[in-house]
Amino acid sequence: MKSLFDISGQVIVVTGATGTLAGEAARYLQRQAAKVVYLSRSQEKVDAAVEIAKCISDDYLGVVCDVLDQIALESAYAQIMDCWGRIDGLVNGAGGNLFGATIGPDQEVFDLNMNDYSKVLDLNLKGSVVPTLTFAKAFKKQKRGSVVNFSSMASPLAISRVLGYSNAKAGIDNFTRWMANELAQKYGDGVRVNAIAPGFFIANQNRALLQNTDGSYTERGQSVIDNTPFGRFGHTEEICGAIHYLLSGASSFVTGTVIPVDGGFSIYSGV
Ligand SMILES: NC(=O)c1ccc[n+]([C@@H]2O[C@H](COP(=O)([O-])OP(=O)(O)OC[C@H]3O[C@@H](n4cnc5c(N)ncnc54)[C@H](O)[C@@H]3O)[C@@H](O)[C@H]2O)c1
Repeated sequence: MKSLFDISGQVIVVTGATGTLAGEAARYLQRQAAKVVYLSRSQEKVDAAVEIAKCISDDYLGVVCDVLDQIALESAYAQIMDCWGRIDGLVNGAGGNLFGATIGPDQEVFDLNMNDYSKVLDLNLKGSVVPTLTFAKAFKKQKRGSVVNFSSMASPLAISRVLGYSNAKAGIDNFTRWMANELAQKYGDGVRVNAIAPGFFIANQNRALLQNTDGSYTERGQSVIDNTPFGRFGHTEEICGAIHYLLSGASSFVTGTVIPVDGGFSIYSGV
């Protein structure tokens, strides 16, 4: 009998698969015998991701594509359908804060650069909406498929300095629920949409906020640790279990949820 968690042979598109968390997840899924699409914006980074993927199995595809470019996403969809004829999962991993959209320690909220605010909103909200609207067309045909979005602690909690990022991630939670309802009502209970909400993992997009160049923690980084019952940042591989669960049959009656993967950050009052 197949395990509830068996995802072998599933075709799973991972956006932002050249980054810290989504890259870790993509390689993990490939090691579970899934067929994995490494989708990201930079040719150079996709080439590097594919070099590693080659050592895991033959079931990978590197696709260079901007998650905000609907035309490029359509051609990525056609390329994947030509190659494997189906899509079973979509992990919307592209995202992250942008330095220009952060309110500096010596700035006020009134100094916020609206151009950068819009960019971070686009990347972190539309950057999951547009890929979902593109790749979930396969789910409509198959009456089966699972989307995993990336939310953040910045959605339910007020986290200083990152207004645009927080607004976008709150939008992701709403989008997750909205789309879960829409796709289930229209295409049945095989089509599911969920999100994970990572706590704090050191990655390229947040390193400068959390860590000094000598590796010690910034005041903000230390404050995160002090407010995390586990007393540490997440290890990148700790993101994989929740994603695996949401893509597998083990979560067949689960949709519209946002699962924290945060060492307890979201349940701690600080007292
Ligand atoms: N690291 C954390 O602590 C943390 C916490 C909560 C949520 N998240 C979320 O997890 C996700 C992954 O973040 P990460 O920390 O691994 O960041 P990361 O910067 O390491 O990875 C993001 C990846 O997305 C790619 N990307 C950026 N813009 C793109 C675009 N327009 N089109 C295609 N690809 C694009 C980048 O090239 C990069 O490979 C993000 O949504 C982030 O907001 C991270």
